[in-house]
Amino acid sequence: MDEAAAAAKNYSPHVLIFPFPAQGHVNSMLKLAELLSLSDVYITFLVSKNIHDRLLHHTDVKSRFSNNPGFYLQVLPREIDEDHPTSPDAVAKFFDSLQIYGKPYLRELIDDKGNRNKRPPITSIIADLSAALEVAQEIGLPFIYFRTISACAFWSYFCIPQLIEAGELPFLGDDMDVRIVKVKGMEEFLRRRDLPSICRGRDLANPVFKLFVSETLQTVGAQGLILNTFDHLEEPILNLIRSKYPNLYTIGPLHTHLKTRLQAAKLTSISAESSNSLWEEDRSCINWLDEQPAKSVIYVSFGSITRVTRDQLMEFWHGLADSGIRFLWVLRPDSIIRKEGEIKTPEEVDLEEATKARGYMVGWAPQEEILAHQAIGGFLTHSGWNSTLESIVAGKPMICWPFFADQQINSRFVGEVWKLGLDMKDTCDRVIVERMVRELMEERRDELLERGAEMAKLAKNAISDGASSFLNLNRLVEDIRRTRI
Ligand code: UDX
Repeated sequence: MDEAAAAAKNYSPHVLIFPFPAQGHVNSMLKLAELLSLSDVYITFLVSKNIHDRLLHHTDVKSRFSNNPGFYLQVLPREIDEDHPTSPDAVAKFFDSLQIYGKPYLRELIDDKGNRNKRPPITSIIADLSAALEVAQEIGLPFIYFRTISACAFWSYFCIPQLIEAGELPFLGDDMDVRIVKVKGMEEFLRRRDLPSICRGRDLANPVFKLFVSETLQTVGAQGLILNTFDHLEEPILNLIRSKYPNLYTIGPLHTHLKTRLQAAKLTSISAESSNSLWEEDRSCINWLDEQPAKSVIYVSFGSITRVTRDQLMEFWHGLADSGIRFLWVLRPDSIIRKEGEIKTPEEVDLEEATKARGYMVGWAPQEEILAHQAIGGFLTHSGWNSTLESIVAGKPMICWPFFADQQINSRFVGEVWKLGLDMKDTCDRVIVERMVRELMEERRDELLERGAEMAKLAKNAISDGASSFLNLNRLVEDIRRTRI
């Protein structure tokens, strides 16, 4: 064997994966990590101590990692113990601590003098944090950005400098229905209210606004860009993104992609129970769903970050109860903004009352399994990207009540482009909730479910052997092996 062939044989690709520490990001990055691991790529998955402990709380997650000798769960230093930063201040603090503590830590981890960790050397980095890109550039290590949002949201962030230049940002005047024309590819249907929520502030010097824009623009320095989407869903926008990022890997929907590859590798026992939840799932709702008629229940969940006021909560509660439609509602204990001194959830909103209104409530649920359940006919969602993709794969139409960030644009695409549901953004009124729930679950039920089934088929096709996401994932693995990226 010649020297080059011997070196190629001994070469072990080892990717450091570093997600922003929140459920939506950790979830999709972990799925990617497991997909790469199935292709014999070593993985170091870097998380805060808090997230590490919460992940390992699940016995199935623990056994998935401990049964995989090439998968290392690595804990960040104590100074960066940010756990699910949700407020703008907490996000800014996290990014500051990355600069101060994160970058030196990354250098040390990658350098690993004396091989203290007894692992093959790290050969590339995948992250959604520009601090990691800066370290990769210093060291000369290949870096791939994985933005865990939709292509349409990513592209709208990318176009913000053009919006400012054209005077479309900041908004002058309060009319949120004014058309935005400088996001190429969306001129026909994008309104101010559909732009990412950071665009709503009038102060463009706001640190969080600047952070979102600079994080997006820095991505051009990476050797590749991964998006959890599929070509058929966002083709025109993906073509625009490709003109800036020729090395684009569209490999989604990741949760289904992982399940399919685990099945192909005959590791179905793992896929059946796999969960990346940071909270304990209350599985009693599955037993409740088993007793409900087909497509009769609307699933209500606003993801891991959204917080509602007491008034908003009551509008949803009355709207759902008055619709007469069965509902399964995930109400995280920390999701209600309480007035000072108020500690209890409003008395009307409890399991007993929900039961009277033909509903069921839990604090956190196995969402992917719920969306796939035959009793679910629709999803009232905050339009987080993971939730949106999970709903598309399950063929379930949506009512969108976007809360912040990328969700405003996702919901516009659901309603206007993909015709997969109704966009309720910027209203929270019991009469509208009731009307939309009826529209989705009764009046337009068959039409929307038919559309949902078409989209679900396209999503599943994308990850099948030889299709776009399947081929892109193989290309990503190949590039990681050859450290071409
Ligand atoms: C947010 C964003 O809005 C999202 O678009 C961005 O990419 C990451 O940050 P989040 O608000 O948590 O994320 O929403 P989402 O992206 O939908 O992720 C929530 C995840 O939690 C989903 O994978 C969902 O299946 C899971 N989940 C939610 C549960 O497992 N159980 C629940 O009860 C609720």
